[in-house]
Amino acid sequence: METETFIRPNNKSKKKQRSPLLTFLFLFTLILLFFYFKNFISPSLLPLSKKSIPIIPRPQQCNPTNRLQGKFMWYAPHSGFSNQLAEFKNAILMAKILNRTLVVPPVLDHHAVALGSCPKFRVLEPNELRYLVWNHSIQLLRDCRYVSMADIVDLSPLASYSTVRFIDFRAFVSSWCGVNLDVICSKDQNIPSPLSESLRQCGSLLSGYYGSFSGCLSALKEDCRTTVWTYKKDNEDGALDSFQPDDQLRKKKKISFIRRRKDVYKALGPGSAAESATVLAFGSLFTAPYKGSESHVDIHEAPNDPIVQTLIKKIEFLPFVPEIINAGKKFALQTIKGPFLCAQLRLLDGQFKNHHKATFLGLKQKIESLRQTGQKQIHVFVMTDLPMANWTGSYLGNLAKDSDAFKLFVIREEDDLVQETAKEVMAAGHGLKLGSVSQSSAGIDKRHYPQSLTDVLLYIEEVVCSCASLGFVGTAGSTIAESIELMRKHDICSG
Ligand SMILES: *[C@@H]1O[C@H](CO)[C@@H](O)[C@H](O)[C@H]1NC(C)=O
Ligand SMILES: *[C@@H]1O[C@H](CO)[C@@H](O)[C@H](O)[C@H]1NC(C)=O
Ligand SMILES: *[C@@H]1O[C@H](CO)[C@@H](O)[C@H](O)[C@H]1NC(C)=O
Repeated sequence: METETFIRPNNKSKKKQRSPLLTFLFLFTLILLFFYFKNFISPSLLPLSKKSIPIIPRPQQCNPTNRLQGKFMWYAPHSGFSNQLAEFKNAILMAKILNRTLVVPPVLDHHAVALGSCPKFRVLEPNELRYLVWNHSIQLLRDCRYVSMADIVDLSPLASYSTVRFIDFRAFVSSWCGVNLDVICSKDQNIPSPLSESLRQCGSLLSGYYGSFSGCLSALKEDCRTTVWTYKKDNEDGALDSFQPDDQLRKKKKISFIRRRKDVYKALGPGSAAESATVLAFGSLFTAPYKGSESHVDIHEAPNDPIVQTLIKKIEFLPFVPEIINAGKKFALQTIKGPFLCAQLRLLDGQFKNHHKATFLGLKQKIESLRQTGQKQIHVFVMTDLPMANWTGSYLGNLAKDSDAFKLFVIREEDDLVQETAKEVMAAGHGLKLGSVSQSSAGIDKRHYPQSLTDVLLYIEEVVCSCASLGFVGTAGSTIAESIELMRKHDICSG
C-alpha cells in the first residue's frame, strides 16, 4: 500500500498549501483501503452478519471423508411450551415424509425466542431464528438446565411404531460439531474458549449463515411469508395461497412476498437438491389457521399415503411422560379426592389481561349450574397465573372466602410434588435414550439437570385438569386450555 507517500513529516505546517489533487488522491486511497479491509476482515469478525458470507472454505462437516452417516432434519422452535409442542408435531410429520432422522430440540424457556407475526408478514429470517434457537439451546446446556422435549413428551408410542427416527440434539451436536459436551455444563460460566468458538462456528453454519452446501447442508429460506407446505395435493403445488399481503400492507411495508403452496415432498424429497444434504434445516414450523388459510403448514390429512395418514392420527395427541402423568393423577386421587372441577384462568399474560370479565364469567356459570344440581361442597382445582395473594377482590377471592360451599386446591412451584416430579423426570432422562447411531460416541453423561420448576408445575396442572370429573373451564384462546381439552378427550386420567 502506497500510503506512505502522502504522509509528510511536516504536513502540519504545510497543510494549507496541499494541492487539491493530492487531497483527492489521499481520500481516494483511503476509500480503497476501506473497501480492501472491509472485504477481507468482515467475514471472520462478523460471522453472524445478516448476509451469508460468499467465500468460505468448505466446512469440515461437509468434507466427504468425515460426513455424518444418515440424513437429519433440524428446525427452530419458539415461543411458549404449547407452541413448541405444536411445532414438534409438525417436525415429526415432516421428518417422516422426508425420511429423515429428526433432531429433537430442548424445551426452550417461555418466550426466549419469538418468531413475530405471520399475518403481518413481520417475522425473523429463518437464519436468524435458527441462530437464536441454537444460541439458547447452548445456553441451556451451559446453565445445566437442559431438558429435552423427549424428557417431557412421551415418544415411545411413536418409537414402537418404528417409522420415525429421532436423535437427541446433544448427541447430534457432539457428532456434527465434533465437540465433547461433557464439560459444557459447569458452575463456572466460562466455557473453555476453543469449545465456545467451535460451537459458535458450528451454530452459524447450521443456521445457514454460510449458505447451503450441496450434499451436506440445506438451510431453507422458506417461511410463512412465502410458503405454505402441503403434501400430495398435486393440483395445489405451486399455486398461490388464498391469503396474500393486501395492497395496503404491500405499500406500507414495501412487501414483495408472494405466498405459494408447495408440496414438501416434491420440493425437498427424492430428486430435489435438498434431498442429498446430510442436514436439512427448516426455520419455524409453527402454523395457525388465519383467514381461511394455514400460515405455514397445511398437512392435516394424507389420504393417498396410508402410513403418513396413520402418523397424523398418532401425533394429534402426544401424552406427557409417565412420571408427569402419575404426579397429576396422584394429586387428583390423594389430595383432592372425590369429584372436582378444574378452572384454568389465564389473567396476567399479554392478550389475556383485558379479558378478566369474560374469563371469570365462564367459571361463574359453570359453578352456578353445579350448585343447582345440589352439590354440597364443590371441590375446585385452580390453575392460574394470578398469585393467591392477589385473589382478594376477584371472583376467585369470593370462592376462597366461602369455605362452606367451596374447597379450592392449587399446586405451587415449591410443593414437594413438583420438586419430586422434576427429579424423577430428569432421572428418567428419556431424551438421551432416543435411538441414535452416534449416541454411544457422543460422550454425554446422563447428568441430572435441574428442570425449571415453573414448567413442571404447568405440566402437572394440565394433567390434574384432565382428571377433573365435574368438568373443565378454560380461558378462551389459551393454548394451555386447548391442550387440556385434548388430554381430556384422550382420557389420559383413566388407565
Ligand atoms: C429411509 O431411510 C432409511 C435410512 O436412511 C433407508 O434405509 C430407507 O430405505 C429409506 N426409505 C425410503 C422409503 O426411502
Ligand atoms: C447468544 O447468547 C448469549 C448468552 O445468552 C448472548 O449474550 C448473545 O447476545 C447471544 N447472541 C445472539 C446472536 O443472540
Ligand atoms: C399482587 O399483590 C402485590 C402485593 O399486594 C402487588 O404488589 C402486586 O402488584 C399484585 N399483582 C397483581 C398482578 O395484581
